[in-house]
Order: sequence, then structure tokens, then C-alpha cells
Amino acid sequence: MISSNGAGEAATAPTEPSAPIKIAVFASGNGSNFQALAESVRDGKINATLELVVCDKPSAYVLERARSFQVETYVFSPKEYPSREAYEAEIVAKLQAAGIDLIVMAGYMRLVTNVLVEPYYGRMINVHPALLPAFTGIKGVEQALEYGAKITGATVHFVDGGMDTGPIIAQKAVEIQDRDTLETLSARIQQAEYDLLPTVVGWFADGRVALNGRKVTINN
Ligand code: GAR
Repeated sequence: MISSNGAGEAATAPTEPSAPIKIAVFASGNGSNFQALAESVRDGKINATLELVVCDKPSAYVLERARSFQVETYVFSPKEYPSREAYEAEIVAKLQAAGIDLIVMAGYMRLVTNVLVEPYYGRMINVHPALLPAFTGIKGVEQALEYGAKITGATVHFVDGGMDTGPIIAQKAVEIQDRDTLETLSARIQQAEYDLLPTVVGWFADGRVALNGRKVTINN
């Protein structure tokens, strides 16, 4: 908007700060990535609000973490539903009621169907503990270690209907040392994730992520 300052000169009105984006985190277990993200949001590093944690395991520790950050939780038991589509339809209703802008999958150990992908493609991301397209699926850390790879890492990518196949947004490399065990390597990859995931979510909050086919660019 252009307004006059009374002296005959045009002055540009200050830009309105954009509204915080509303985030839902999907998780199945410990939730340390949720924790890293929640701390970044709490500390004002990301222009977002955490609205919801969606979890498929009633005993998952992520639920305690969500409570401690006063984030609402939605817990479901997949075996109580006839199909993935059936529980996802309920999740979508919940997400839409909460006005969710971005879904962050952080240790959510389930494939998703078109029921979720169609309404949220381009607004749904996942963190994976390997450098995709290598070592997809579960046990990404173990796979890299057993394969004898020298470099692995963490990837944040868009979620499509496949297993870790969506367009890659950002990656961080981690060197594998000869003395690494599953525990030591997992710990270093997780440290990389705690940095990478909040950074990427911050890009979304600032409207910087552009998706064009398989290519993702981050605008300044
Ligand atoms: C994370 O390391 C994430 O990359 C991995 O699960 C872990 C969850 O840890 N995800 C996958 O393997 C998905 N294929 P957290 O619950 O402590 O955040």
C-alpha cells in the first residue's frame, strides 16, 4: 500500500508481519525432533504455532513432550480401523478443523494414502535419517552402517504416496567413522536432524519454499 505523508511525497507503509503458520507434528515414538521444533517455536525462532500432535501409539513418549509444551494431541490406534484410509479421513477432518498449514512428520512410522496426500501435498514434510534416495524406509541408520557407506546424514523431503520418495528440500551430511555403532551414528544423525528440521520449518514459515516438479528452491 502507498500512502501520502502530507508533504507531497509518497511513503511506503510498513509491511504487515505475516501470520504465524499453524503446524501439526505426526510422530510415533520418542519425539526428540518434536522437542527440537517446539523449543525453536517457543524461543521465537520460527514464526509458527504448534497446534497438534498426531500419534498412532498411545504409549509414545512424544505425547508427554506435547503435554509439557501444552500442545493438543490426537491419538489413534490403527488396528481399530478397517483401513489406512479410514483413520486418515478422521485425521484430515481434525487437521482441517484446526486450520493446519503444514504437517511435519518426525518419526511417524506409517505410509500415507491419497486421503492425506491429496489435500496436503506440498504442505507435508518428513525427516528421514539417511541421505535420500539411499536407505529408505525403516532402519535408515542401520542400513547405511551395514552397507559400509562412508557418508550418510539426514534429509527433509515432501511427502508423497511412496516410501521416502517425495522431492528433497534439504540434506545434511554425517560422516561414518570406523568405530561407529548404531547408537553413536544415530546420535550424530539426530543432532543433524535437530538443526535441519527447524531450519526447514522456518523457511516454510517465511514463505520461502518453492516446489516445481521434483525441484525445490529456497527463495531469499
Ligand atoms: C528420527 O531420527 C527420524 O529421522 C526417524 O525416526 C526418528 C524419530 O526420532 N524417522 C524414520 O526413520 C522415518 N523413516 P524422534 O521420535 O526422537 O524424533
